[in-house]
Amino acid sequence: MLEDGLEKQEILRLLDEKLKLDMRYDSGSILGSMCTEPINLGIEIYTKYVSKNLGDPGLFLGTAALEEELATEIGELFGGKNIIGSFTTGGSEANLIALRIAKKLRPDIKKPEVVLPISAHISFDKAADILDIKLRKVKLQNDFSININHFESLVNKNTCGAIGVAGTTSLGLVDPIEEIGEIISGKDIFFHIDAAFGGFILPFLKNLNFTTPPWDFSVEHVDSITADPHKMGMGIIPTGGIFLRDKSILQKIGFEIPYLAGGISKHLHIVGTRPGGTIIAFWAIIKSLGIKGFNKIIQKCMDNTSYLIKRIREIQGIKIPAKPVMNVVGITTENGESVCEIDEQLRKRNWLTGKFEEFNLIRVVVMPHVQKAHLKNFCDDLEKITQNL
Ligand SMILES: Cc1ncc(COP(=O)(O)O)c(C=O)c1O
Repeated sequence: MLEDGLEKQEILRLLDEKLKLDMRYDSGSILGSMCTEPINLGIEIYTKYVSKNLGDPGLFLGTAALEEELATEIGELFGGKNIIGSFTTGGSEANLIALRIAKKLRPDIKKPEVVLPISAHISFDKAADILDIKLRKVKLQNDFSININHFESLVNKNTCGAIGVAGTTSLGLVDPIEEIGEIISGKDIFFHIDAAFGGFILPFLKNLNFTTPPWDFSVEHVDSITADPHKMGMGIIPTGGIFLRDKSILQKIGFEIPYLAGGISKHLHIVGTRPGGTIIAFWAIIKSLGIKGFNKIIQKCMDNTSYLIKRIREIQGIKIPAKPVMNVVGITTENGESVCEIDEQLRKRNWLTGKFEEFNLIRVVVMPHVQKAHLKNFCDDLEKITQNL
């Protein structure tokens, strides 16, 4: 540490220099991220309220009430009524909270198990490791949809939870939530939907007349949903969210925090100190965009997605393995060869996509920062790369 502090100008100069290594969303190169540049109003509001701490809600009663209001509003967007919710660092923490709930609600099960598709996010493996839960993974079919019979066969007397994904990490696909609901019906199994990515796109796709399978609280068996403002909600990083149908869960299994200045409080979080600014910013983003604002952003993402799909279909040697439901496009080879070489060549040309070796996929997420011109250049390069393989 320096003996004397530096002038602000010097600090800014040093940071500019050191952070040159970072990619920028507006460069167009970031084609494999589920996050994006938050909208300006969100950044402004976040900066204004950066010191609010929801780890001590009794000190920030206004922020705590705002969180409740926001959760109810989002719950309604997700087809529910009087939904409770709370905001997290992201989808991983929300999924961890969901698996803890599933385990805690079934103290009678000594060796708890959770059934989930193999395409579910890695955060469930982390959560299962922490919570000592056995994961039972459901196979996929050739079209990357889940094998529902296999799902059913994995449910047994030790199953405390079932997971459906609404917007898979690799392909943006939506699992058959109603069918999973039927399988677990009447079995006292907690049913959690991971819509970390899909949560803030599916309701708007429906408005825009895209085909969207049922995935939310409108399906009666659904108990909880993960949905992340910092993905398609265009919120501040980090903002995730967990939404619950049954209010009594908080009282039943919430952690009681006894020492706070604001008095005893209960929460479901892993963290203590928790940003209020990110939540206030998301409240403002929702108020500012409204349904029409989200529809507009998502329409543009979907137009760009259609353009990308069309271009990829014209390129020989590669194909799209599953019909995209949202703005996530997988690319694989036509002859089944590994996508690793294509991915490497793309990286050399500064295209940063996602790579899923287990499914032999390259993934492009057509986020709001991705422009048609970026996709055009990307496809031109992709065409050259595949020609020279
Ligand atoms: C479906 C899904 N769930 C959960 C997560 C984890 O979210 P986070 O990185 O915000 O913890 C991701 C991340 O991409 C995801 O795609």
